[in-house]
Amino acid sequence: MRRADLAGLGSVAVLWLLALASLLGLWGERIAEPGGIGPGFPQEQSGSRLGSLREEAEAPAASSRRLALSNQAAQKTFRALLTLPGQPREPQDGPSESGQEPPPSVLRQREIGNLEPLPASPVRGGIFWSRALEAQVPPGFSAEETASWLQAAREARVVSLERGGCGRSSNRLARLSDGSRACVRYGINPEQIQGEALSYHLAELLGIQGRLPPLALSRVEARGGQWAQVREELRGSHWAEGAVVSLAQWVDNLTDVVAPAPWRAEAGRRLQPLAAGELRGLAPAQLVELVQWSDLILFDYLTANFDRLVSNLFSLQWDPRVMQRATSNLHRAPNGGLVFLDNEAGLVHGYRLLAMWDKYNEPLLRSLCLFREATAQRVRELHRLRNAAAELRRLYRTREPLAEALGFLSDQQAQLLQDRVDLVHKHILHCKARAAGSL
Ligand SMILES: *[C@@H]1O[C@H](CO)[C@@H](O)[C@H](O)[C@H]1NC(C)=O
Ligand SMILES: [Mg+2]
Repeated sequence: MRRADLAGLGSVAVLWLLALASLLGLWGERIAEPGGIGPGFPQEQSGSRLGSLREEAEAPAASSRRLALSNQAAQKTFRALLTLPGQPREPQDGPSESGQEPPPSVLRQREIGNLEPLPASPVRGGIFWSRALEAQVPPGFSAEETASWLQAAREARVVSLERGGCGRSSNRLARLSDGSRACVRYGINPEQIQGEALSYHLAELLGIQGRLPPLALSRVEARGGQWAQVREELRGSHWAEGAVVSLAQWVDNLTDVVAPAPWRAEAGRRLQPLAAGELRGLAPAQLVELVQWSDLILFDYLTANFDRLVSNLFSLQWDPRVMQRATSNLHRAPNGGLVFLDNEAGLVHGYRLLAMWDKYNEPLLRSLCLFREATAQRVRELHRLRNAAAELRRLYRTREPLAEALGFLSDQQAQLLQDRVDLVHKHILHCKARAAGSL
């Protein structure tokens, strides 16, 4: 009897602790909501949210660098919070922060050395990158490579789960029985995994999926074949049994990316536009990078992903040098190509917080008047046929066996997606008219 009572008391205490922990967790997540940011108090509150966003920025890295990197990211965040306008500026992050990797300037030199000289104009039709320039963009994940990794990852068993290296502390780095590795993201809120998966498939619809690491959903079942081998690790993870997580292919040797000049805004200044007349003097490697950024900015606008360049623009309020720091959730692969990581703020979470972030998202879109023609064409078709959400749903269901588990966009979110497609299309037409000199 007594023993049973004690055990009962013990489990009540544990339940209370769990409830308290989940309340704290929820509170941590809620900070970024519009009501959560008081006018006189933006820095500390949003700062702590951005701290966790920043933590995720340094996803894959060689295991020996992982701890150092996450310490670095924490320091960066604190530095960002402590640097108020008007205070003496701190020295720029030096190459020592990038560990074994060569400093960015060296990388850039090397890339420039490898590139073919470009023909006269990197732009055609006033608003499109030239074909010769596009041909120099380093390849991303090919469709074949992606399909074969996804199939292997879905069939593989998870053989170990490690903490660290994959952003938020609830995420894990998984080793799979086929020898590959994956970042496993567990959503504190289910909309994060839904947003990640839907953003991934929207990227295919836009023809830019090669810039995103392959991504599959998986249901975590300690008894199921895929997860049985890591039952112990699962116990320590506090993941809910039956939860749907995302597995993103791990990419080795990624390095940080600083926003290119047109977006290196300083506090209080307008973003410089990126248009054909603005490219003089840029080296081929810089142009090649801008081609990829033009897709990134359209993608982040369409998905309302605030967790990349836009979170840096937001931080300008208290960190005038933030645009010279690494961009969250964006990395450079060893071949020089950009990798758009961690898109869980997209489409669902982002659409919920539009009121707060669109004042950064929209100027960013309007600062861009150069596009990959193929991407602009996809946008035009989705505008013309008014079928962005329907096409996304079709792709999602075709590609992702667990699509039904997380549900799709609500009607309202589907309409928001179409509205944003329409606005991007209109913006492209505006750029075209301006380039033709009629504005
Ligand atoms: C990553 O870097 C290590 C150390 O420099 C190297 O041995 C390895 O081959 C690299 N891997 C890839 C995929 O580039
Ligand atoms: Mg994130």
